Amino acid sequence: MRAVQFQEYGGPEVLGVGQAPEVHPGPGQVRVQVRASSVNPLDWKLRAGYMAQGKPLTSPGIVGFDASGVVDEIGEGVDDVAVGDDVFGLGSATAADQALLEVYARKPASVDWAVAAAAGVAAETSIRAFDLVGVTAGSTVLVDGGAGGVGAVAVQIAVARGATVIATAGPDNQDYLREIGATAVEYGAGVADRVRAVAPDGVDAVFDVAGKTPVADLLSLVREPAQVVTIARFDAGDSGIQLTTGRAATAGQALAETAALLENGALVIKVQTFPFSRAAEAHQISQSGHVRGKLVLIPES
Ligand SMILES: NC(=O)c1ccc[n+]([C@@H]2O[C@H](COP(=O)([O-])OP(=O)(O)OC[C@H]3O[C@@H](n4cnc5c(N)ncnc54)[C@H](OP(=O)(O)O)[C@@H]3O)[C@@H](O)[C@H]2O)c1
Repeated sequence: MRAVQFQEYGGPEVLGVGQAPEVHPGPGQVRVQVRASSVNPLDWKLRAGYMAQGKPLTSPGIVGFDASGVVDEIGEGVDDVAVGDDVFGLGSATAADQALLEVYARKPASVDWAVAAAAGVAAETSIRAFDLVGVTAGSTVLVDGGAGGVGAVAVQIAVARGATVIATAGPDNQDYLREIGATAVEYGAGVADRVRAVAPDGVDAVFDVAGKTPVADLLSLVREPAQVVTIARFDAGDSGIQLTTGRAATAGQALAETAALLENGALVIKVQTFPFSRAAEAHQISQSGHVRGKLVLIPES
């Protein structure tokens, strides 16, 4: 099968489409014929060798942590989907003709393949973070970095839960934030004051998506440090804010909730698609740190 892979760590130019060995599902996994696989910042961190802890690459690395596709093989114990079903979900090495998904949900027929692929990591991460800080109907939440892959999905999930959402982005994305249901605020120096101007009593929770605003500013907006949850800051030390990584045990439920939101139009994801052969370009854009919505790779027929 073909896969978007790299033979050495480096810049986007090390990415190419090459042949990779076939994969087969283990217990609880499904294999899909991939229709789309999204780009997450973790992909370029992996490709650049930032996750390698100094160890050399011993076999080609394949990018991709989420995908949509048609199930063509199921692992032991899988009884909730069958061969031929359309699904989306989470795995690794998903930017390939075939990929294994460890967590998945059915893709509603009305939802585009690229959008379903784009939803995987972004929605599971958002729901995991919101569950940690209790974002529910009536909450006021700040999504710091609300226009990117995770942020734009987080904003809409919070709105769908009945929360009031304030979100930050750069000047070019302020209208986009309003379009997806947030009160828009510009990030950067003075951001906490700008948030207080629209939420004088502070907020019930902060979702730190970008990891760029000083922790002290985020803490000044909440009553307890644990009401701040970050996915991108590994240096918060003993500040008391919560860091979440990995996947929740409830990731499957999160994807099912996401499928329903996509189907009923509560979650709309702006996608920019690239054929596998232009993956390097997509990585270049992702690395800029100013993506609106999601970048998605599509296998060439
Ligand atoms: N821990 C986990 O489980 C987990 C899961 C997924 C992602 N992540 C991490 O979360 C981070 C975000 O992922 P993503 O997919 O959303 O990335 P992305 O699509 O590249 O979006 C990044 C966003 O950050 C915003 N931003 C840039 N500078 C900012 C600043 N100073 N203050 C606030 N926002 C700023 C950008 O807004 P503008 O475009 O308007 O400038 C953009 O919307 C990455 O570091 C990723 O690796 C972690």
